[in-house]
Amino acid sequence: MRIAVVGASGRVGREVVDVLKNQGHEVVGITRSAGVDVYTGQGLAQALAEVRVVVDAVNAPTTETAAVTDFFRTVAQNVQRESAAAGAQRIVLLSIIGIDSFTAGHYAGKLAQEEAYRQGPVPVRILRAAQFHEFTEMMLDWTTHGDTASVPEYRTQLVAASTVAEQLAELAVEESGAELFEIAGPQELNLAAATARLAARRGSPARVQEILDTDDPNHELQADGALLPGPAAILAGPTFDEWLDQHYPIQR
Ligand SMILES: NC(=O)c1ccc[n+]([C@@H]2O[C@H](COP(=O)([O-])OP(=O)(O)OC[C@H]3O[C@@H](n4cnc5c(N)ncnc54)[C@H](OP(=O)(O)O)[C@@H]3O)[C@@H](O)[C@H]2O)c1
Repeated sequence: MRIAVVGASGRVGREVVDVLKNQGHEVVGITRSAGVDVYTGQGLAQALAEVRVVVDAVNAPTTETAAVTDFFRTVAQNVQRESAAAGAQRIVLLSIIGIDSFTAGHYAGKLAQEEAYRQGPVPVRILRAAQFHEFTEMMLDWTTHGDTASVPEYRTQLVAASTVAEQLAELAVEESGAELFEIAGPQELNLAAATARLAARRGSPARVQEILDTDDPNHELQADGALLPGPAAILAGPTFDEWLDQHYPIQR
Protein backbone atom coordinates (compact mmCIF):
# COMPACT_ATOMS: atom_id res chain seq x y z
CA MET A 1 0.00 0.00 0.00
CA ARG A 2 1.20 3.56 -0.72
CA ILE A 3 1.29 5.39 2.62
CA ALA A 4 2.45 8.96 3.30
CA VAL A 5 4.06 9.83 6.63
CA VAL A 6 4.00 13.53 7.51
CA GLY A 7 6.96 14.32 9.77
CA ALA A 8 8.86 11.34 8.39
CA SER A 9 12.22 12.35 9.87
CA GLY A 10 10.88 13.11 13.36
CA ARG A 11 11.28 11.26 16.64
CA VAL A 12 8.22 9.12 16.04
CA GLY A 13 7.75 9.63 12.28
CA ARG A 14 11.03 7.96 11.34
CA GLU A 15 10.07 4.90 13.37
CA VAL A 16 6.67 4.73 11.61
CA VAL A 17 8.51 4.85 8.27
CA ASP A 18 10.77 1.96 9.34
CA VAL A 19 7.87 -0.23 10.53
CA LEU A 20 5.84 0.34 7.34
CA LYS A 21 8.82 -0.24 5.02
CA ASN A 22 9.70 -3.46 6.87
CA GLN A 23 6.12 -4.60 6.24
CA GLY A 24 6.67 -4.01 2.51
CA HIS A 25 4.63 -0.83 2.11
CA GLU A 26 5.62 1.97 -0.23
CA VAL A 27 6.26 5.01 1.99
CA VAL A 28 6.21 8.65 0.90
CA GLY A 29 8.15 10.64 3.50
CA ILE A 30 6.84 14.19 3.91
CA THR A 31 9.14 16.80 5.46
CA ARG A 32 10.32 20.27 4.53
CA SER A 33 13.80 18.81 4.02
CA ALA A 34 12.24 16.58 1.35
CA GLY A 35 10.68 19.68 -0.29
CA VAL A 36 7.11 19.43 1.03
CA ASP A 37 5.65 21.92 3.51
CA VAL A 38 2.32 20.89 5.02
CA TYR A 39 1.81 24.37 6.54
CA THR A 40 2.20 26.38 3.32
CA GLY A 41 0.95 23.45 1.23
CA GLN A 42 4.00 23.60 -1.05
CA GLY A 43 4.49 20.27 -2.87
CA LEU A 44 1.74 18.53 -0.89
CA ALA A 45 -0.65 17.69 -3.75
CA GLN A 46 2.17 16.08 -5.74
CA ALA A 47 3.46 14.16 -2.71
CA LEU A 48 0.03 12.69 -1.95
CA ALA A 49 -0.67 11.48 -5.50
CA GLU A 50 -2.05 7.91 -5.35
CA VAL A 51 -1.53 7.71 -1.59
CA ARG A 52 -4.11 5.46 0.15
CA VAL A 53 -3.38 6.40 3.77
CA VAL A 54 -1.75 9.42 5.42
CA VAL A 55 -0.11 9.24 8.86
CA ASP A 56 0.39 12.66 10.49
CA ALA A 57 3.27 12.83 13.00
CA VAL A 58 4.31 16.41 12.29
CA ASN A 59 5.47 18.79 15.01
CA ALA A 60 5.14 22.56 15.34
CA PRO A 61 8.03 25.04 15.44
CA THR A 62 6.56 26.96 18.40
CA THR A 63 4.57 26.50 21.62
CA GLU A 64 3.08 30.02 21.63
CA THR A 65 -0.68 29.42 21.80
CA ALA A 66 -1.93 31.44 18.81
CA ALA A 67 0.94 30.38 16.53
CA VAL A 68 0.86 26.68 17.44
CA THR A 69 -2.92 26.57 17.08
CA ASP A 70 -2.70 28.22 13.67
CA PHE A 71 0.07 25.78 12.63
CA PHE A 72 -1.72 22.57 13.60
CA ARG A 73 -5.16 23.74 12.35
CA THR A 74 -3.74 24.84 8.99
CA VAL A 75 -1.77 21.61 8.58
CA ALA A 76 -4.91 19.56 9.27
CA GLN A 77 -6.94 21.57 6.75
CA ASN A 78 -4.23 21.28 4.08
CA VAL A 79 -3.67 17.56 4.61
CA GLN A 80 -7.43 16.87 4.64
CA ARG A 81 -8.00 18.83 1.40
CA GLU A 82 -5.14 17.23 -0.52
CA SER A 83 -5.83 13.74 0.87
CA ALA A 84 -9.42 14.02 -0.36
CA ALA A 85 -8.21 15.23 -3.77
CA ALA A 86 -5.85 12.23 -3.96
CA GLY A 87 -8.67 9.82 -3.08
CA ALA A 88 -7.06 8.67 0.18
CA GLN A 89 -9.10 6.25 2.31
CA ARG A 90 -8.10 7.51 5.75
CA ILE A 91 -5.81 9.66 7.82
CA VAL A 92 -4.16 8.50 11.05
CA LEU A 93 -3.27 11.34 13.43
CA LEU A 94 -0.90 11.17 16.37
CA SER A 95 -2.25 13.26 19.23
CA ILE A 96 -1.90 13.42 23.01
CA ILE A 97 -3.91 11.86 25.86
CA GLY A 98 -5.98 14.15 28.07
CA ILE A 99 -5.77 17.43 26.14
CA ASP A 100 -9.52 18.23 26.15
CA SER A 101 -9.31 20.85 28.92
CA PHE A 102 -6.13 22.57 27.76
CA THR A 103 -6.43 26.11 26.45
CA ALA A 104 -2.76 27.06 26.04
CA GLY A 105 0.45 26.00 24.34
CA HIS A 106 1.21 22.81 22.40
CA TYR A 107 -1.72 20.88 23.89
CA ALA A 108 -4.26 23.51 22.79
CA GLY A 109 -2.73 23.37 19.30
CA LYS A 110 -3.11 19.58 19.18
CA LEU A 111 -6.77 19.90 20.20
CA ALA A 112 -7.36 22.36 17.32
CA GLN A 113 -5.60 19.89 14.99
CA GLU A 114 -7.90 17.04 16.05
CA GLU A 115 -10.99 19.24 15.54
CA ALA A 116 -9.87 20.43 12.11
CA TYR A 117 -9.16 16.87 10.98
CA ARG A 118 -12.57 15.68 12.16
CA GLN A 119 -14.27 18.41 10.09
CA GLY A 120 -12.68 17.24 6.83
CA PRO A 121 -14.05 14.73 4.32
CA VAL A 122 -11.50 11.90 4.79
CA PRO A 123 -12.15 9.58 7.79
CA VAL A 124 -9.66 10.15 10.60
CA ARG A 125 -8.36 7.77 13.23
CA ILE A 126 -6.72 9.46 16.18
CA LEU A 127 -4.11 7.78 18.36
CA ARG A 128 -3.68 9.77 21.54
CA ALA A 129 -0.35 8.91 23.17
CA ALA A 130 1.07 9.66 26.59
CA GLN A 131 4.35 11.56 26.78
CA PHE A 132 7.22 9.55 25.32
CA HIS A 133 10.09 8.10 27.38
CA GLU A 134 12.11 10.43 25.12
CA PHE A 135 10.24 13.39 26.69
CA THR A 136 12.71 13.13 29.60
CA GLU A 137 15.53 13.88 27.12
CA MET A 138 13.61 16.93 25.92
CA MET A 139 13.08 18.01 29.55
CA LEU A 140 16.84 17.96 30.19
CA ASP A 141 17.47 19.91 26.96
CA TRP A 142 14.85 22.54 27.81
CA THR A 143 15.26 23.01 31.56
CA THR A 144 18.94 22.52 32.42
CA HIS A 145 20.78 25.63 33.61
CA GLY A 146 24.24 25.06 34.99
CA ASP A 147 24.18 21.86 37.01
CA THR A 148 20.40 21.83 37.63
CA ALA A 149 17.37 20.83 35.60
CA SER A 150 14.04 22.27 36.79
CA VAL A 151 11.25 19.93 35.72
CA PRO A 152 7.60 20.92 36.19
CA GLU A 153 5.30 18.92 38.44
CA TYR A 154 3.73 16.51 36.00
CA ARG A 155 1.95 13.17 36.32
CA THR A 156 2.42 11.00 33.24
CA GLN A 157 2.50 7.40 32.05
CA LEU A 158 5.54 7.54 29.76
CA VAL A 159 5.58 5.29 26.68
CA ALA A 160 8.35 4.55 24.16
CA ALA A 161 8.14 6.50 20.87
CA SER A 162 8.86 3.21 19.06
CA THR A 163 5.81 1.58 20.70
CA VAL A 164 3.62 4.48 19.58
CA ALA A 165 5.07 4.19 16.07
CA GLU A 166 4.15 0.50 15.87
CA GLN A 167 0.57 1.31 16.88
CA LEU A 168 0.35 4.13 14.32
CA ALA A 169 1.54 1.75 11.61
CA GLU A 170 -1.08 -0.80 12.68
CA LEU A 171 -3.87 1.81 12.48
CA ALA A 172 -2.61 2.90 9.06
CA VAL A 173 -2.84 -0.61 7.64
CA GLU A 174 -6.03 -1.90 9.37
CA GLU A 175 -9.02 -1.49 7.08
CA SER A 176 -11.54 -0.73 9.85
CA GLY A 177 -11.68 -0.03 13.56
CA ALA A 178 -12.47 2.58 16.18
CA GLU A 179 -11.78 6.28 15.58
CA LEU A 180 -10.08 7.13 18.86
CA PHE A 181 -7.46 5.21 20.83
CA GLU A 182 -5.17 5.94 23.75
CA ILE A 183 -1.73 4.41 24.24
CA ALA A 184 0.47 4.73 27.33
CA GLY A 185 3.29 2.93 29.09
CA PRO A 186 2.89 0.26 31.76
CA GLN A 187 2.88 2.52 34.84
CA GLU A 188 2.34 6.06 36.07
CA LEU A 189 5.52 8.03 36.69
CA ASN A 190 6.47 11.37 38.11
CA LEU A 191 8.21 13.27 35.30
CA ALA A 192 10.88 14.86 37.50
CA ALA A 193 11.75 11.52 39.09
CA ALA A 194 12.01 9.81 35.68
CA THR A 195 14.09 12.70 34.33
CA ALA A 196 16.40 12.41 37.36
CA ARG A 197 16.95 8.73 36.53
CA LEU A 198 17.95 9.70 32.97
CA ALA A 199 20.30 12.42 34.28
CA ALA A 200 21.94 9.88 36.61
CA ARG A 201 22.55 7.53 33.65
CA ARG A 202 23.99 10.36 31.57
CA GLY A 203 26.10 11.67 34.44
CA SER A 204 24.66 15.19 34.17
CA PRO A 205 23.14 17.48 35.20
CA ALA A 206 24.04 16.86 38.82
CA ARG A 207 20.61 17.91 40.16
CA VAL A 208 17.05 17.53 38.92
CA GLN A 209 14.51 19.47 40.95
CA GLU A 210 10.73 19.49 40.64
CA ILE A 211 9.11 22.92 40.36
CA LEU A 212 5.55 24.24 40.21
CA ASP A 213 5.75 26.52 37.17
CA THR A 214 2.88 28.93 37.87
CA ASP A 215 3.77 30.95 34.73
CA ASP A 216 2.58 27.97 32.67
CA PRO A 217 -1.22 28.17 32.31
CA ASN A 218 -1.30 24.35 32.07
CA HIS A 219 0.58 23.75 35.34
CA GLU A 220 -2.42 22.65 37.43
CA LEU A 221 -3.79 20.22 34.80
CA GLN A 222 -0.34 18.65 34.35
CA ALA A 223 0.23 18.32 38.10
CA ASP A 224 -3.28 16.98 38.75
CA GLY A 225 -3.03 14.07 36.30
CA ALA A 226 -5.11 15.36 33.35
CA LEU A 227 -2.60 13.74 30.97
CA LEU A 228 -2.98 10.23 32.42
CA PRO A 229 -4.66 7.52 30.30
CA GLY A 230 -8.26 6.38 30.74
CA PRO A 231 -9.28 2.81 31.64
CA ALA A 232 -9.61 1.71 27.99
CA ALA A 233 -6.08 2.75 27.01
CA ILE A 234 -3.65 0.33 25.40
CA LEU A 235 -0.78 -0.10 27.88
CA ALA A 236 2.47 -1.28 26.35
CA GLY A 237 6.16 -1.59 27.25
CA PRO A 238 9.03 -1.23 27.40
CA THR A 239 8.97 0.21 30.91
CA PHE A 240 10.95 3.39 31.47
CA ASP A 241 13.73 1.39 33.15
CA GLU A 242 13.88 -1.08 30.26
CA TRP A 243 14.07 1.87 27.85
CA LEU A 244 16.86 3.41 29.92
CA ASP A 245 18.78 0.13 29.85
CA GLN A 246 18.39 -0.05 26.05
CA HIS A 247 19.44 3.53 25.34
CA TYR A 248 21.69 4.40 28.28
CA PRO A 249 23.28 1.13 29.44
CA ILE A 250 25.08 1.23 32.78
CA GLN A 251 28.86 1.35 32.13
CA ARG A 252 30.56 -1.46 34.06
N1 LIG B 1 7.12 14.14 22.56
C1 LIG B 1 6.12 13.54 23.18
O1 LIG B 1 6.23 13.14 24.34
C2 LIG B 1 4.80 13.34 22.44
C3 LIG B 1 3.79 12.59 23.06
C4 LIG B 1 2.58 12.37 22.37
C5 LIG B 1 2.41 12.92 21.10
N2 LIG B 1 3.41 13.66 20.55
C6 LIG B 1 3.20 14.24 19.22
O2 LIG B 1 4.09 13.64 18.31
C7 LIG B 1 4.18 14.50 17.17
C8 LIG B 1 5.57 14.37 16.60
O3 LIG B 1 6.51 14.77 17.58
P1 LIG B 1 8.06 14.44 17.40
O4 LIG B 1 8.71 14.87 18.65
O5 LIG B 1 8.22 13.04 16.88
O6 LIG B 1 8.44 15.46 16.20
P2 LIG B 1 9.89 15.99 15.79
O7 LIG B 1 10.95 15.03 16.18
O8 LIG B 1 10.00 17.42 16.23
O9 LIG B 1 9.79 15.94 14.19
C9 LIG B 1 8.92 16.79 13.48
C10 LIG B 1 8.82 16.30 12.03
O10 LIG B 1 7.90 17.16 11.33
C11 LIG B 1 8.54 17.65 10.15
N3 LIG B 1 7.96 18.99 9.88
C12 LIG B 1 7.95 20.06 10.72
N4 LIG B 1 7.32 21.11 10.12
C13 LIG B 1 6.92 20.67 8.90
C14 LIG B 1 6.23 21.27 7.82
N5 LIG B 1 5.80 22.55 7.86
N6 LIG B 1 5.99 20.52 6.71
C15 LIG B 1 6.42 19.22 6.62
N7 LIG B 1 7.07 18.60 7.62
C16 LIG B 1 7.33 19.32 8.74
C17 LIG B 1 10.03 17.66 10.49
O11 LIG B 1 10.85 17.62 9.34
P3 LIG B 1 11.43 19.00 8.66
O12 LIG B 1 11.99 19.81 9.79
O13 LIG B 1 12.45 18.55 7.66
O14 LIG B 1 10.27 19.65 8.03
C18 LIG B 1 10.14 16.35 11.27
O15 LIG B 1 10.18 15.25 10.38
C19 LIG B 1 3.78 15.90 17.65
O16 LIG B 1 2.60 16.30 17.00
C20 LIG B 1 3.53 15.72 19.15
O17 LIG B 1 2.43 16.47 19.61
C21 LIG B 1 4.60 13.87 21.17
